[in-house]
Amino acid sequence: MVQNKNAKVINRRQFIKTSTAAGASLILAPHVLKGAKSFGVDDINVALLGAGAQGQVLMNACLKIPGIRFKAVCDIWKEYNQKRVYRLLGKYGHKLNAYEDYREMLANEKDLDAVIVATPDFWHAEHATACLEAGLNVYCEKEMSNTLEGAKQIVRAAKKSGKLLQVGHQRRSNPRYIHCYEKLIKEAKILGHITTINGQWNRAVQPDLGWPEKYAIPQPRLEQYGFQSMAQFRNWRWYKGFGGGPIVDLGSHQIDIFSWFLDAVPLSVMASGGTDYYDSQTHEWYDTVMAMFEYDTPKGLVRAFYQTITTNSNMGYFENFMGDQGTLQISESAGRAGIYREQSAPLWDKWVDKSFLNAPAEEKIPNVNGAVLDVRETVAPPKYELPVTFNDPYHKPHLENFFNSIRGTDTLNCPAEVGYETAVAVLKVNEAVEKASLVKYDRNEFTL
Ligand SMILES: NC(=O)c1ccc[n+]([C@@H]2O[C@H](COP(=O)([O-])OP(=O)(O)OC[C@H]3O[C@@H](n4cnc5c(N)ncnc54)[C@H](O)[C@@H]3O)[C@@H](O)[C@H]2O)c1
Repeated sequence: MVQNKNAKVINRRQFIKTSTAAGASLILAPHVLKGAKSFGVDDINVALLGAGAQGQVLMNACLKIPGIRFKAVCDIWKEYNQKRVYRLLGKYGHKLNAYEDYREMLANEKDLDAVIVATPDFWHAEHATACLEAGLNVYCEKEMSNTLEGAKQIVRAAKKSGKLLQVGHQRRSNPRYIHCYEKLIKEAKILGHITTINGQWNRAVQPDLGWPEKYAIPQPRLEQYGFQSMAQFRNWRWYKGFGGGPIVDLGSHQIDIFSWFLDAVPLSVMASGGTDYYDSQTHEWYDTVMAMFEYDTPKGLVRAFYQTITTNSNMGYFENFMGDQGTLQISESAGRAGIYREQSAPLWDKWVDKSFLNAPAEEKIPNVNGAVLDVRETVAPPKYELPVTFNDPYHKPHLENFFNSIRGTDTLNCPAEVGYETAVAVLKVNEAVEKASLVKYDRNEFTL
């Protein structure tokens, strides 16, 4: 019986690989042309484990990707998120089962190819490991885990299983970021010698998340899954032992970009932070963190400043890479990007001709209301634009990269090893805050 089921799965999976690798059959498949609502034999069968805010964002992105069939949703909030997702996917024609316990899901669903894990960080290690051990490919949201031990467990499980593990640092698949890395930094070396980076995620004050009273989870079930109260269940990010606070939650996305664009892991970090604004009983993690990293690169030391502020939204979020020939500002927020040439740098005409950049409307030192900028200010050069526009949901290319890797037509942009490096880099920031001193990374820490 089991053998037969396995054989069926293998055959269908083999079909996924061979049909796509053989050529353009996926692209031409009728169900693809018709859109995501109709299903075919080479579809990827997916379960969503964790159907909260991010699970629903990922689900919505998946609904725009042809050939993805949801077979199951698992969420402990049966009264609300689980029900909502189950109904919604049903409306889109997906025939799926709903579960509270992932173990029951893994035991019952024998035709899955992949699981999307979007539960709170402290559940990732158990969930991702179990899914990998069940022979499934896993898209695991960042942070890989709230502990290094948890992240290690996932990497080991991925290696042992031979299955794919994509970590949800979705900027790694964003065409704008890929253009910046591959064309501007690697090929054109347009920034020259990168010396410094600064990045931030500044967020306005936000009230704690609530819940409709009639949909509250009964206390025994909350406790069964590690939560003391509905307030903690809804606001798990702020609690030690559940997440890593804003520096991990938000910062990991951007600190991941620092390492990616530099092709380096940090040498050290020092940080200052604390719960300065909110009630520390309900906001155990720091509402404010300012961190300074040092990176060793072939061209020399790079210093990178990064902050997360949760009490003021000034300038939102971005990463700024600064070299002796230019500055690159990039953000997941599509409206915030620009490349600025230092006045002493060679002209960038050839990069404009090669469509690496769009030229500024007018290359001249800007003035404000007729007043030329202070001559002592050597910056404010003209802004070149990124030639890449990207209007899809942010997570769609990263999910597509995952699904296409399952099909054998692509390779993962953020495999376990890469996600792990970022986990090492970012989890250490909280240690630096606690110690209020410089903390060094051991290069060996970044690999298992
Ligand atoms: N990549 C990104 O840009 C991005 C953005 C937001 C969140 N995230 C990540 O996504 C994950 C989820 O975050 P969120 O904002 O959706 O949180 P959330 O609290 O809104 O949702 C979590 C869901 O998981 C469910 N859940 C909790 N424990 C469970 C368990 N043991 N088994 C099954 N279901 C369980 C909850 O009922 C809830 O529906 C986190 O890891 C977070 O860091 C990533």
